[in-house]
Amino acid sequence: EFNTLDDLEPGQRVLVRIDLNSPVEDGEVQDNHRFDRYAETVRELADSEHRVVLMAHQGRPGRDTFVSLDQHADILSEYVGKPIQFVADTYGDDAIEAIEGLSAGEILLLENTRMNDDELPEKPPEEHADSEFVETLAPYFDAYVNDAYSAAHRAHASTVGFPLVLPAYAGRVMESEYEYNTGVAERARETDGQVTMVLGGNKSEDVISVINNLGDAIDTFLVGGLPGELFHRADGKPVGMDVGDMDLLDDQYAETEDTLANILETSRDQLELPTDFAFEDDSGERAEIALDDITEKTDPYLDIGHDTIDSYVPIIEDSDAVFVKGAVGVFEDERFADGTVELIEAIGRTDCFSVIGGGDTARTLKMYGLSEDDYDHISIAGGAYLNALTGQELEAAEVLIEQATQTA
Ligand code: 3PG
Repeated sequence: EFNTLDDLEPGQRVLVRIDLNSPVEDGEVQDNHRFDRYAETVRELADSEHRVVLMAHQGRPGRDTFVSLDQHADILSEYVGKPIQFVADTYGDDAIEAIEGLSAGEILLLENTRMNDDELPEKPPEEHADSEFVETLAPYFDAYVNDAYSAAHRAHASTVGFPLVLPAYAGRVMESEYEYNTGVAERARETDGQVTMVLGGNKSEDVISVINNLGDAIDTFLVGGLPGELFHRADGKPVGMDVGDMDLLDDQYAETEDTLANILETSRDQLELPTDFAFEDDSGERAEIALDDITEKTDPYLDIGHDTIDSYVPIIEDSDAVFVKGAVGVFEDERFADGTVELIEAIGRTDCFSVIGGGDTARTLKMYGLSEDDYDHISIAGGAYLNALTGQELEAAEVLIEQATQTA
């Protein structure tokens, strides 16, 4: 469906959209799976003697995570094993000079593409193709490669504008993410035997859309994270606190309470809910409490407890396919990683088809030394993964497919 890197003649001037959007702590960009995944695409392009110019974004204007890509260039360069030049400009004179100065096999990363005003408005591809940004850069290239699957749900200039004015190709990440993530529903429906989904994360709306879209295809949802608490709360239990901004969670709950209660009524048989939770005790240690012992909303719960883990693991072990959407606890904190790590480990040792994704879930593997080889696919996408699971269009991927069809 896509034109891919296999269709690209070597030795060209190639403009490549990748997605290096990363967690940033105290101004420091945190290493994560996106770097090693994109390193493969970038190395392949450089080895084919292309002049490789990379575009990527980081954060959104106004947020602490909205920083320059200079650190990204260094981290990516380590993974690629080749120098990566960086220019603090998106499409002005400095950027053009750096682009023109590249030799075959060299790599250049342009500045955070969201620092350019043409990038962010959500607009149709035709309008983005007419922007100053796209019109200025395009003439310096022979081809455009979009590998940013995780930003493919955004109709931004760098994701949808260029395919209309340059021959457009899907990169390796785009290809595999599209195949596996967009294929989850079909795969789940086609699988004989037990199909399970681990459903965590921290947005109740997401959980509702996943259950609505995949409810007919998934036999059992193993619920954790915030949704685990909210379902109990919708069932009248005094649970419902988690890490984060309490007002926000209360608002989320108020908006979705009726829908959650409705799902409980219609789909209770498909839902496994936590029977215990972990929280931080007064001495800062992990402690656990059984659902039946919770009498009021006091503690923020940060993970599912071990009774819950012990009841979820055998279900995974009996499954023919397991999909993960989101972490069941705050795995970034070692004390509260047990739920997420033990479930993902169980999937890894079970001979089932598996896709792991949602938020930063892929980071778990890196942080806790789990082998990627034990899973069929590990998604590095957040919102785009959710879009795929809920059957929504990924506009930037669709543009690539349309262009490929037109030029076929
Ligand atoms: C992501 O990290 O999920 C993507 O890069 C999209 O980022 P955005 O939600 O800021 O558009």
